Amino acid sequence: MPSKDGEGLTDEEILHEAMQKILHTIEEGIHVVDVEGRSILYNRAMENIEGLSAEEVLGKHLLEVFPSWTAADSTLLTAIDTGRTVDLRRQSYLNLKKKRISTVNTTFPIFKGSRIIGAVEIAKNYTEVNKLSERIIDLQQKLIDPPRPGFSKPRSYTFDMLIGRHPLYLEAIDRAHKAARSDSSVLIEGETGTGKELFAQSIHNEGTRGKQPIIAINCAAMPDTLLESILFGTSRGSYTGAEDRPGLFEQANGGTLFLDEINSMSLALQAKILRALQEGYIRRVGGLRDVVVDVRIIAASNEPLHAMMKAGSFRKDLYYRLDVINITIPPLRERKDDIPLLTEHFLGHFNRKMGKEVWMLSQELQEAFREYGWIGNIRELQNVLESAMSMVNDEHVLGKEHLTPHLDILPSCRAPAKANGSALSGGFAGDLGGYLEDVERRLIYEALDACASNVSRAARRLGISRQSLQYKMKRYGI
Ligand SMILES: Nc1ncnc2c1ncn2[C@@H]1O[C@H](COP(=O)(O)OP(=O)(O)OP(=O)(O)O)[C@@H](O)[C@H]1O
Ligand SMILES: [Mg+2]
Repeated sequence: MPSKDGEGLTDEEILHEAMQKILHTIEEGIHVVDVEGRSILYNRAMENIEGLSAEEVLGKHLLEVFPSWTAADSTLLTAIDTGRTVDLRRQSYLNLKKKRISTVNTTFPIFKGSRIIGAVEIAKNYTEVNKLSERIIDLQQKLIDPPRPGFSKPRSYTFDMLIGRHPLYLEAIDRAHKAARSDSSVLIEGETGTGKELFAQSIHNEGTRGKQPIIAINCAAMPDTLLESILFGTSRGSYTGAEDRPGLFEQANGGTLFLDEINSMSLALQAKILRALQEGYIRRVGGLRDVVVDVRIIAASNEPLHAMMKAGSFRKDLYYRLDVINITIPPLRERKDDIPLLTEHFLGHFNRKMGKEVWMLSQELQEAFREYGWIGNIRELQNVLESAMSMVNDEHVLGKEHLTPHLDILPSCRAPAKANGSALSGGFAGDLGGYLEDVERRLIYEALDACASNVSRAARRLGISRQSLQYKMKRYGI
């Protein structure tokens, strides 16, 4: 057992010990040199990144450790020389163990008063992230390439497949038809599950670019640096002699790039997208050459982008560049007359798929469907029907007995939250696990309700991550 005794130690000494621990535990590589360029700190993460051990580096001058360098190659020596910070520089190189490494480095001089006394380099290791992005780009390319025998392309939607007759929905379709006839950027807005992707595909397929690829990328699904490499491609420079990799802008050349959940894109990347749209060319990450691209952009957002722009979390210039044609898809609760039509469509679909013969919903279920809020919109309706239909044997009418018990669709199971204002007011009758799940489900409903079904905001309100809220929603069939 270690003994506990901090007596006699100054705060500084304790901090020193803590710093040592921190420096060798964090994921960023850290390298400190004195004003002569001699290494005085080299942490474990840096050892991994550069493929050197601290013994090989500490106490030596940088150019002794890296003999092929000149002073100008070293960001640390440059920082000492110029007194300037080099912020977030991307580097990709073979380290001394001949391993390809990709980092983003920040290097800054250290001052005492006005004297430069050394420099620090902090390196974030993006090697794995980069590998992942290259893999995604390769897979995407395989999707575009002509299908090999035995492989079919994923189904693509056209306008005639969109079900709905409500005037608001027809208006959205009408605008989408017009968008198909033009080549301007399109912004599709609508809550999750309203069919934004179907609209994007239909617009592309009906337009003049229909024979060219439409490439979709979900901007919320990955970190910024990865998204940047995926969109713009990467250039490996001269290090490996390997081919450069095109990004989605280049892969979509002549066709359409569908930027899904663009509301999640960082401001920094928004600026880069704007530049590509304005100038009509892109540059691969780490590359030197401008590549001309002819790409039509369709963007989708599940949050009102105009409000985000007003609040400063979306760039104004990019907003206006994208919102040339705006299509807003109404949520299902605003076009309830379409529910029977959609239900009929999905019953037919799942009958064929599952070999069943369900003709209709019970009266009770029809009414419940009409009353229900459908925060997951058409996707939720589709999922509820799929799950209920898998409970059917040879019945022809789908009834409440086929619904998953925890679903809130029937008024009798709906959370009493609205009636008495609290998720904790259900009453406890002995099954703690079930009771807690019930409370959790109701809290999620309350949060989603309060945030107009916006999952990110509801997650923030609940104090959990968006991913974990999505997981819970899936689990509870919300
Ligand atoms: N008009 C429609 N007719 C038939 N099915 C539809 C229609 N609209 C949407 N769907 C179904 O709803 C599902 C969700 O649609 P889609 O993926 O386009 O939603 P989304 O708006 O992109 O959602 P998210 O914001 O979550 O990505 C699709 O799988 C599709 O089967
Ligand atoms: Mg989508």
